[in-house]
Amino acid sequence: SAAEKGGYDWFMLKEIAEQPAVVADTLRGRLTETGEIHLDEMRLSDDDLRDVGKIFIIACGTSYYAGMVAKYAIEHWTRIPVEVELASEFRYRDPVLDRSTLVIAISQSGETMDTLMALRHAKSQHARILAICNTIGSTIPRESDAVLYTRAGVEIAVASTKAFLTQIVACYLVALYLGQIRGTKWGDEVSAVVGQLQEMPAAVDKVLDTMEPVRELARTLAEADQILFLGRHVGFPVALEGALKLKELAYMHAEGFAAGELKHGPIALIGEGTPVVIVVPSPLGRDSLHGKVVSNIQEVRARGARTIVIAEEGDDKVVPYADHVIRVPRTPVLMAPLVTTVPLQVMACEIAAARGLDVDQPRNLAKSVTVE
Ligand code: G6P
Repeated sequence: SAAEKGGYDWFMLKEIAEQPAVVADTLRGRLTETGEIHLDEMRLSDDDLRDVGKIFIIACGTSYYAGMVAKYAIEHWTRIPVEVELASEFRYRDPVLDRSTLVIAISQSGETMDTLMALRHAKSQHARILAICNTIGSTIPRESDAVLYTRAGVEIAVASTKAFLTQIVACYLVALYLGQIRGTKWGDEVSAVVGQLQEMPAAVDKVLDTMEPVRELARTLAEADQILFLGRHVGFPVALEGALKLKELAYMHAEGFAAGELKHGPIALIGEGTPVVIVVPSPLGRDSLHGKVVSNIQEVRARGARTIVIAEEGDDKVVPYADHVIRVPRTPVLMAPLVTTVPLQVMACEIAAARGLDVDQPRNLAKSVTVE
């Protein structure tokens, strides 16, 4: 009913709107005023965590993309090597696992069969298992050595939105905690990052306030044959997630690419009027990635693309090559996915609605896939 949907047309819109609150909930009680991380609930001893030499993240669907985002942060903050793998592939390639391996299984439902089977395989190889899960008492956390719950609340729409943001936050907390107890030389910065995380609910709220033009733009995309998504660094998994949302909801051909791969194939897909969504890294980030992505916008536009650019407030460099600019608040590089994902969720939802589709219950999909 309309009441259950909190006045929104779809559960998905309600869940998108809940994101500032659930990000705050997922942080609550886990950060101290002095900028320390408290994850006592996690049940893995500090000694266990000190011994971790390698991390595997296993997940499916949107949770897998949260894992891809997390890899950037965990490696940067802890210097522990991280591999992210689709749960359905993981155990079939004989991964190298032992007691010093930490396997992080990310699952909203806690019941995804592929993730559960991957976890069981890792356990049989004596790896330690940490679940990042949204459903208390579900199978995946029950079979894990430790669990950190996301606090997204019940997610009803089949396409995951609020769970994704909280999964990223939970993974970041684990990364910070690892940094804290292992005393990496980066340790001093933990408190700075804690402060950044605490600002994210307000930043997400700010994005939500500016979504009306995104809705209007989305309606003009409803008849497109395909939409391509480009991103780099943490913007790459965001691009993949944007494409997945569109496939799931609008049944439209959509693909996400690492912007640096454009010239190795994807650019051939671009013709007159092809919509391309580009997730632009912060101009303040390292490694001149911003300039490279701005060049990509130019390149696709020169081949006829209609460019839809997601860029930070104040980033003027993108303007000459953008047919549409969607602004997001300025954030530190690793926090950006928490804001850049939101317009992609809104866009997919609106395009699906404009195509007359059931946003909350897309065809052929299940909220939780309990078969292999
Ligand atoms: C299904 C859902 C997706 C979800 C994926 C993984 O495909 O439709 O939205 O991302 O399963 O689910 P999990 O519950 O393990 O996060």
